[in-house]
Amino acid sequence: MLAYEAEKDSFPRYSVFNPVTMLDAAGMLDRLPDVFAISGWGKGTLAPNNSIGAGYDGVSDADRQVHSANVFGRRVRVFSSSHALSHIWGSYGMSPYEQGRPCYALVWEGALGDFYEVDAQLHVHHLGQVMKAPGNKYSFLYALADPAATLPRGHVRYSDPGKLMALCAYGEPGDPTPEERDVIDPLLDHPSFLDLAKDDLRDSPYYNIGVRSPAFTRLAKRFSDELFRRFEQFARRHLTKGYPLLVSGGCGLNCDWNSAWRAGGLFEDVFVPPCANDTGSAIGTAIDAMREFTGEAKVSWDVYRGQEFVDDRPDMPDVLVRELDYDEVAGFLADDRVVAWANGRCELGPRALGNRSLLAAPFSAQTTARLNKIKEREDFRPIAPICLEEDVERHFEWTGPSPHMLYFQTVRDQKLEAVIHVDGTTRAQTVRADQNPMMHALLTRFRDRTGTGVLCNTSLNYHGSGFINRTSDLYSYCKHHGVDAFVHSGRFCRFQ
Ligand SMILES: [Fe+2]
Repeated sequence: MLAYEAEKDSFPRYSVFNPVTMLDAAGMLDRLPDVFAISGWGKGTLAPNNSIGAGYDGVSDADRQVHSANVFGRRVRVFSSSHALSHIWGSYGMSPYEQGRPCYALVWEGALGDFYEVDAQLHVHHLGQVMKAPGNKYSFLYALADPAATLPRGHVRYSDPGKLMALCAYGEPGDPTPEERDVIDPLLDHPSFLDLAKDDLRDSPYYNIGVRSPAFTRLAKRFSDELFRRFEQFARRHLTKGYPLLVSGGCGLNCDWNSAWRAGGLFEDVFVPPCANDTGSAIGTAIDAMREFTGEAKVSWDVYRGQEFVDDRPDMPDVLVRELDYDEVAGFLADDRVVAWANGRCELGPRALGNRSLLAAPFSAQTTARLNKIKEREDFRPIAPICLEEDVERHFEWTGPSPHMLYFQTVRDQKLEAVIHVDGTTRAQTVRADQNPMMHALLTRFRDRTGTGVLCNTSLNYHGSGFINRTSDLYSYCKHHGVDAFVHSGRFCRFQ
């Protein structure tokens, strides 16, 4: 019914739940919960036996805990299962497959790089670990080349993987050279990651080489390909029953790897939830608790189950407010203006999928630069398109829906300059009227005017914060970042 993510509403990215968000979330419930479900974690990274709840690893019965506790004077059940189980049950419970259909599950993220099987009786079996910490190793590579990064032992910056993913498109694929092997193999083979510091690689030719350096982007591409190849080889050897593959963990947000799983033909189907990273961890533990107490391990959901937008009615003396007219907004966008679009409940997970989006016409590379400037991010970051599902084949090498921006496509329509990445690909989101009627209506009006039902779509958030979720932040962001207008709560707001 509701997923409440602590970073949303302009809290810092990756925030933990705080007293304000706790009170806010409690206000959305009509009674005290019967069960509190807590995803396992660790209090620190280095000392053993300091788990929160059921801890991080493990999928056996010992990695689940049930007890009762006093909450505001009432006895409630408290359930906890490991972080690993939260990813597995999150992807299983949100997948479209009927309960009882056996599935393979891949959890690849900051710490785990493991395959599992969920059998017909809903037992989870560990099939093997391919490598430790694939996500952190991927992140580490970016920091290695970035002169601005100093990484103490065992630390990573959460924003680096997305940047490395963008840079891989600049790199030439191929077999790694001996010099590249000297970085790729020791890093991917590293047994723990926690005792690795950037300065351990001080003698590497890639140390502080600069992230835009062609030598580095080539290394990045080959590192990324080799990382995937190791998981694929394991799957080819050990995952031979053809079951569908569930993908979770932060690496599940890598569109290149998701597309490679789909294209590889090892699995009957591939499912990746839009909150594959830890934004989906609470949902996964809730599903595991539901399975424990009711036997039911499936949830019905759509991606717009986040917090409701808050109209806190700030004073906006320089804004002309009118009722939303799709045609007027489409015309405004067609005139190369940038519009912030905040409607209904926000998206699950980190991807803006048309309810907390910055929108612009897709026809000019200058728009890419402008959007990156508004977002205060690197100029090599690509901008993704949002597209009418019925038109997707016209513009991209893709058939059917891709509603959560989790796969890449080659761009067919060369007019779409703003959304073509350097290697000719993009990461499109498709929209149908039943998924997002407001965005569908806007895209349709934009197509009426320009012949193209595609817009640039990037997330609406302050740099380093979760999505904007209230009018005061929306107004202030647009005013100070050069956004031309904003839409919220059925109103079109233009600066005068
Ligand atoms: Fe995780």
